[in-house]
Amino acid sequence: MNNIGFQDTERLVSTAALAEDNDNENSLRPKRLTDYIGQEKLKDNLTVYLQAAKMRGDALDHILLYGPPGLGKTTLAGVIANEMGVNIRVTSGPAIEKPGDLAALLTNLEEGDVLFIDEIHRLSRQVEEVLYPALEDFALDIIIGKGPSAQSIRINLPKFTLIGATTRAGQLSSPLRDRFGVILKLEMYSHEELAKIISRSAGILGIECTEQGAMALAKCSRGTPRVANRLLKRARDFAQVSGEGIIDADIAALALDRMDIDSLGLDALDRTLMRAIITMYSGGPVGLETLAAAIGEEAITLEDVCEPYLMQLGFLSRTPRGRMVTNLAYQHLNIKNPNIADSDVVQQSFDEI
Ligand code: ADE
Repeated sequence: MNNIGFQDTERLVSTAALAEDNDNENSLRPKRLTDYIGQEKLKDNLTVYLQAAKMRGDALDHILLYGPPGLGKTTLAGVIANEMGVNIRVTSGPAIEKPGDLAALLTNLEEGDVLFIDEIHRLSRQVEEVLYPALEDFALDIIIGKGPSAQSIRINLPKFTLIGATTRAGQLSSPLRDRFGVILKLEMYSHEELAKIISRSAGILGIECTEQGAMALAKCSRGTPRVANRLLKRARDFAQVSGEGIIDADIAALALDRMDIDSLGLDALDRTLMRAIITMYSGGPVGLETLAAAIGEEAITLEDVCEPYLMQLGFLSRTPRGRMVTNLAYQHLNIKNPNIADSDVVQQSFDEI
């Protein structure tokens, strides 16, 4: 817990995975591409790649999935493996500490299998070096012995597919990025798509949720299925205790209000971030580290969890000189923007009509 009382893992609208999400997400994860809601453009192309690989009887090319947390990268990797009818081994960049860890994973794969590496931008350089020949030639180069008697031996690997996932494609080294034949970007979901995801999850979990209830939760889900599923479970608690067990628009509104989540899905941390830029730095620009220190939060949390959604809403911009809030943020927080004269506000409202 930091000095203003936030811990990211406690935030209901955090897009980071929480322990509770794991049981939840596993049962809710679609297995087939036809059950995967949203990401239409990505799915259209992926369908072609899957079909072509199957027609050739070949493994899929290596795939890089990138986009903000909680958009379903792990889910999609599972769908891809399932559609290809192969096994998936799931690991993450920080979990592969030594080249030997990667060698153990690779030598246990079977022909066509998928190796999924989450947070692939966090692989160490030494591990990356071992990965290159594995991706390109399906071979492992191992050095045996030391000094002048050292020998390099090459072990052949089965033809496998690496699916790498990252929130930061820009942090991937270019040799690694270049070895992916397919690069797919996941976009934030629309309210309609999130409402469908919520209704589907409610069906699986046996929760009664009206269309209006699902839409009210969807609007506050920050474009993210992980948040949507979490809000659904919390709204179920309010429906059970304060209602008739059914999530309708009223119960959804009550639950969101009690969780301190506003009409756009922003929680106290998002609002604190924007207020800090406004009150402490006159609207910005302010550097990320300075801002993080000022509100007692980790820079990475602000960058990965708060900022993507605030930027999507048009409340925040990242400039070379630092973060700035926009006039929309002032309006949402009901704070007068001293940089905008009242006459401009009137003009702006006329423009909007
Ligand atoms: N759960 C998480 N992401 C999903 C998606 N895109 N479609 C359906 N269910 C999901």
